[in-house]
Amino acid sequence: MRHLAFPGGITRRNLIEWFRQGRARTREVFAIPKPDAYYDRPIKLRNPIVFYEGHLPVFTVNTLLKLSLKEPGIDADYELLFERGIDPESEDALKPAADQWPSRRDVQAYGAEAERRIERALCNGDIERDGGEAAIAILEHEQMHQETLLYMFHEMAYERKNPRPPFHPRRVASGGWRVGNHVAKIPAGIATLGAGDHFAWDNELPRHQVEVPAFEVDRYKVTNGDYLEYVRATGADPSHFWARADGEWYWRGMFGLTPLPLDSPVYVTQEQATAYARWRRKRLISEPEYHRAAVGTPSDAERLFPWGDEPPDSSRGNFGFSNWDPVPVGSYPSGASAWGVHDLAGNGWEWTSTPFEGFAGFQPMVSYPNYSVDFFDGQHFVLKGASPATAPELVRRSFRNWFRGNYPYVYATFRCAA
Ligand SMILES: [Fe+2]
Repeated sequence: MRHLAFPGGITRRNLIEWFRQGRARTREVFAIPKPDAYYDRPIKLRNPIVFYEGHLPVFTVNTLLKLSLKEPGIDADYELLFERGIDPESEDALKPAADQWPSRRDVQAYGAEAERRIERALCNGDIERDGGEAAIAILEHEQMHQETLLYMFHEMAYERKNPRPPFHPRRVASGGWRVGNHVAKIPAGIATLGAGDHFAWDNELPRHQVEVPAFEVDRYKVTNGDYLEYVRATGADPSHFWARADGEWYWRGMFGLTPLPLDSPVYVTQEQATAYARWRRKRLISEPEYHRAAVGTPSDAERLFPWGDEPPDSSRGNFGFSNWDPVPVGSYPSGASAWGVHDLAGNGWEWTSTPFEGFAGFQPMVSYPNYSVDFFDGQHFVLKGASPATAPELVRRSFRNWFRGNYPYVYATFRCAA
């Protein structure tokens, strides 16, 4: 077990604040579906909405109270029913779901009791016995689910959602995007993958270095306009996030259709991204190349973030719930990398060509042993960066996201390399 008692000067008070803010944002997210949509299943390959409102507190109880602190749980039936989500390959592979979900009142009563006990544990439990791993795992787990919940609610018919967002997006004005040379030439060099001395999920470890040959990479993500040209030229399928009405293309936004924003990044599957890149006689960026493009520098010193070592804030990229949807590429010049590559953290996760697997020396984490291993199957691919719905705490260079190459619901973008 790595010893990392609260890195970066994090205190118990910080953890409690983080927990409260996370719970508050989750409540805002669950205010999006109308009450009578509670048992809807907006994505057929995932559980119904009720599952997630139970899963978040159950995960905190199972992980921090029961597994790490060896304390008793609250309700053994709930702690099994809401233990894990699903990711079947197809609808045929869907196991029959529980046909009787509890009432919302009961699920929320469980959540309230879990909150009381978790706060107590964060206040005076022996949460440092595992270096703080379980405590931070439950906090980040909640934030990751806020994002996947938004993907799910994105799929709901507009009339199943409350019309007014509970929190308010900030639209960033279009920058002077696509000025100058569109391609960055990145010389051969070393990329450091994996996490340093801070909390990390198991798949971010161990830290290691990779030699990356010289390559070229697009400074901007592929836009809706670029992709529309491709769809028109080849008859390829459109983005899952587009809708067609009266002969025009629209962006299927979180709360309504808008005329297709041609200068914003397109959300596509990894398979669509790969096919587009091939059509352009290019290819997707690999995970080590992403690192080189994002945090490498001409002097070979690496940065913590694309823009430097300052912590993420809303001036650096479209992440952290500032917007419901993507904004025009290049809207955050102060978030560009040393090579002038834009939107490497924010405005949509970035597909890589790298299948998701453990780094050499991978070890499952004690507090959540199934977090990654079940997905090392060659079907899932690594995504890097962040989306509009990614919390700032998850914006770090070692963070790895992963989805099936054909999963269309993710806020996932791409750029081409050569
Ligand atoms: Fe989960």
